[in-house]
Amino acid sequence: MNSQAIRALFVSAEVAPLAKVGGLADVAGALPKALNAEGHQVRIAMPAYPMILNDTRYTTQRLTTFDLALRDDWHETVQVYQLDLPSGLCVYLFQPGGWFDGCVSSTSLYAVDPRGYVAFCRAVVAWLERSDWGPEVVHCNDWHTALIPVYMRHGAPDSVRAIATVFTIHNLAYQGVFEPEFFGQLGLPDYLFDVEGLEFYGKVNLMKGALLYSDYINTVSPTYAHEIQTPEYGERLEGLLRRLYSEERLLGILNGIDYEEWNPATDPHLPAPYTADDLSGKAHCKAALQSECGWQPDPSKAVIGLVSRLTDQKGLDLIKAIGAKILQLPVQLVLLGTGDPTYERYFRSLHKRHRAKVHATIGFDNALAHRIYAGSDLFLMPSRFEPCGLGQMISLRYGTIPIVRQTGGLADSIRPYDAQKGTGNGFVFTPYKPSALYEAVASAVSAFEDASAWKAFVRRVIQEDWSWRRSAQAYVALYTRAIQARTQGFAPAR
Ligand code: GLC
Repeated sequence: MNSQAIRALFVSAEVAPLAKVGGLADVAGALPKALNAEGHQVRIAMPAYPMILNDTRYTTQRLTTFDLALRDDWHETVQVYQLDLPSGLCVYLFQPGGWFDGCVSSTSLYAVDPRGYVAFCRAVVAWLERSDWGPEVVHCNDWHTALIPVYMRHGAPDSVRAIATVFTIHNLAYQGVFEPEFFGQLGLPDYLFDVEGLEFYGKVNLMKGALLYSDYINTVSPTYAHEIQTPEYGERLEGLLRRLYSEERLLGILNGIDYEEWNPATDPHLPAPYTADDLSGKAHCKAALQSECGWQPDPSKAVIGLVSRLTDQKGLDLIKAIGAKILQLPVQLVLLGTGDPTYERYFRSLHKRHRAKVHATIGFDNALAHRIYAGSDLFLMPSRFEPCGLGQMISLRYGTIPIVRQTGGLADSIRPYDAQKGTGNGFVFTPYKPSALYEAVASAVSAFEDASAWKAFVRRVIQEDWSWRRSAQAYVALYTRAIQARTQGFAPAR
């Protein structure tokens, strides 16, 4: 056991493998595990979704029940359950009344009345007062958990005020902004509905509360931490973010990926395993993926994979603008994702019109995601903005070369390929323009044609290290700073 072991409570609305919509779930499933592997004691708190409670693969144990008075006219009975994942991770599931009853699958995870998150956050803070296990730091993630640091500093007893708080922005595009009347639901003092509080252009902004009242704030890559201080990426919070940065309370820590889940040598979802030394399994995975898509296995075609939430953030309008032109290159495109109905329709119709070259699956399918990462040659991620992005790291681990836009975490992880020097790990473009994306795809496809150089390239990138190890250490340093600041009393006094 590590003598400097830190006790931390990690709070997230999604945690893989229990409930997953996007990269946040992957981080929540992997970072606590990586920290525990270093000897720390990190536990998770999340809502008790029926999709978890009713899943026969998991055994949950009821820990405690208590009454929570949110306002004079709003009371809930809170149930807290404990679930131990096979990885050894301890997860606390909070059920404040019936607010999360509709969450029966990952697709319905965010169809929740926002009062559910108010109740969840209040329940977690109330539980901190009662629990035998006391964390030294509470690490909240994204707007669903943003009220926790606010409640920990308003109306909580000293034992809770003494706990440090860290808040991670995984995506500034989602801040939890509601009509001003919603403020009345929060049970917070009126003076907090102010520019120096949760008020935001006449509305109420939950993430803003977390930015003001957490000891430290981080985002998931150094480049995004800078970008969000500009009007282009700051989503109208750039002024506050600049202030936090100047107070040294805002920083960027690049995510890693779970090396147990994502390992081509042991991946149970693949038709054949492979390593950098023996790539024959990758060729097999590619042929199997081509057959699965209804195509003749053909090693000479560059298979381009795309696994993504189908939202504007991901640069899909660029793909839409040049889809037909890309298909004139010797490529095949295989896509998996759900999201904006416009993009779902577009990819469905592209699939129907170009069956020999395009295969689109609209939905969630973890096993298929693994087969796409392994069976593709190239991976497309032309994001408009990207706080970190995990797809580019997963694809590198599977020897699938990413084509990315130079932004956020993509800029921090992907360097342009130079065939002569044998450097770089992907294809990069900068201006957010269809023509720039097209050039990057065309140069990737032409590099792919040099089969022996390509093989050496693939071998080299598979060996890069994108595990959580380095980033977990950066979080330990951040937790330590937050705890010291709190106990020594020079943390933000708010
Ligand atoms: C969000 C971001 C993505 C990031 C993930 C995990 O989904 O959009 O860039 O990798 O969170 O931090």
